[in-house]
Amino acid sequence: MADPHSYANPEESRVRHLDLDLTVDFTQKKLKGSVTLALDPAGRELVLDTRDLVIQKVNGSTEGYSVGPADPILGSPLRIVLQKGVRSVVIEYETSPEATGLQWLTPAQTAGKRSPFLYSQSQAIHARSWVPLQDTPGVRFTFSARIQAPAHLTPLMAAARVWRDRFHMPQPVPSYLLALAVGELEFRALGPRTGVWAEPPLVEKAAREFADVERMVEAAERLYGPYLWGRYDVLVLPPSFPFGGMENPRLTFATPTILAGDKSLVSLVAHELAHSWSGNLVTNANWNDIWLNEGFTVYFESRIQEAIYGRKRSEMELSLEVDALVEEMRGLKPEDTRLVVDLQGRDPDDGLTLVPYVKGALMLRWIEEKHGRAALDAFLNAYFARFAFQSVTTKQFLDEFSRHFPGVDLSAWLDGPGLPEGAPRVRFDFESRPRREWTTQEWLHWLRVAPESWTAAKMKEADAAWGFTDSGNAEIAAQWLKMAIRAGYAPAERRLETFLVEVGRRKFVKPLYEELAKTEEGKEKARAIYRKARPGYHPITQGTVDGVLR
Ligand code: BES
Ligand code: ZN
Repeated sequence: MADPHSYANPEESRVRHLDLDLTVDFTQKKLKGSVTLALDPAGRELVLDTRDLVIQKVNGSTEGYSVGPADPILGSPLRIVLQKGVRSVVIEYETSPEATGLQWLTPAQTAGKRSPFLYSQSQAIHARSWVPLQDTPGVRFTFSARIQAPAHLTPLMAAARVWRDRFHMPQPVPSYLLALAVGELEFRALGPRTGVWAEPPLVEKAAREFADVERMVEAAERLYGPYLWGRYDVLVLPPSFPFGGMENPRLTFATPTILAGDKSLVSLVAHELAHSWSGNLVTNANWNDIWLNEGFTVYFESRIQEAIYGRKRSEMELSLEVDALVEEMRGLKPEDTRLVVDLQGRDPDDGLTLVPYVKGALMLRWIEEKHGRAALDAFLNAYFARFAFQSVTTKQFLDEFSRHFPGVDLSAWLDGPGLPEGAPRVRFDFESRPRREWTTQEWLHWLRVAPESWTAAKMKEADAAWGFTDSGNAEIAAQWLKMAIRAGYAPAERRLETFLVEVGRRKFVKPLYEELAKTEEGKEKARAIYRKARPGYHPITQGTVDGVLR
């Protein structure tokens, strides 16, 4: 099945292995070097995806190559005519400083304030902006890499670290999981095969926050089979990272905004870890099927949370997600509330909602409720084993599903809008416990259901009692700041500005600009803050906020 977001021709010529040799140039904000692509099969032509790359030379082809016109979403195809018998090509190239898959940070944007920082974010279709390759989740390859960086900085890749600057990935991975980071980084072991990398000022805090990660891996293995990737480490990125987390194999990338000090936001690590099965092992064949990655992962995440922190915590967390889904679906077109979407002609970054995540998870939960946990787990184990290291479509999922659950009809979930009749209710009695014992999730629920009519005076009272404006918990702070904008609560204005200038996580930043943009005065304020904040945002966040304030 063809991927609408790639020019690649894997049926004719397929990349099986990459060998990267790159130098990191912080002054020019460029990666420079070469990639060797091993092919099997190797046909008459090889078509690769690129975006804003400068291609300097292609060896292994005597008949030449051409770079096609740039499509705003897809980039440019690189067509290489292969000489008969040639099974590998070497491409010498450089990236552009505007590469959408890279963010180059100044020392001021880091925790240490001393050294620059570089990181990649390849999902969904940004790997092509830093490596010419077949940028589709339908193609997997192994790779090796040498990354030359300034001596005081540590290069890391989502791969086995063979030597300081050398990496190897023996398991075949799709391009969206290709990942690189370079910065002043320190490591702390968490367990025999788990650890955390972070900038020196954050590394101790991170190690405390993630102290349960080894146990999470063990719990996940008990649920759905052995962890097949060797090590599991977490890399804490600077606060401009546009996502909460990214499941890069062996090395989850994470926002520092989950370092709350009390482990209250570590479900994000459970989520990215769960992708080691749902996503990295069994991968959506294209981005229309992303629910196969994210829906399975949210369900699995909640099972890990239940195993480590108990059912109460996992139910609280899932119920907050379900509330957020219901809220978001109110504003979506019915066709965008189906699990299987049609993203042809659209940027997959823009099509991303909570639907594949939470509706997907609820579908698995519905199967659990109807047929029992044992039957669902048996299916999931079989599904992960059968499709390990492959890419699957919804149809292939359905084939396997119907062998385990003959006659069970999923079409209302997959193709119907909204939540089907009989969808599970995840209920939690949020307000039953005394307030001084409340956890982050209870506070979040309370703030989210607070009446929109809260005045500045009411906000002041709540702030005096509970200190929300100065909360060190980014989830609580973001929710509070949104309410502060709505209520015109002036004492939160400074925090709002510093939060928006420092944090680039799209999930936080987007709703705050949207709330500001609801009034003319707010829009002015938003534009003034954004002028300061924009240069520090990742291209993905810039694109999102540009859209809000246009
Ligand atoms: N794989 C996603 C992030 C992603 C999805 C990046 C699509 C680009 C395109 C990651 O696993 C994820 O879902 N992150 C969430 C956190 C999670 C706990 C819901 C995020 O970043 O908010
Ligand atoms: Zn995910």
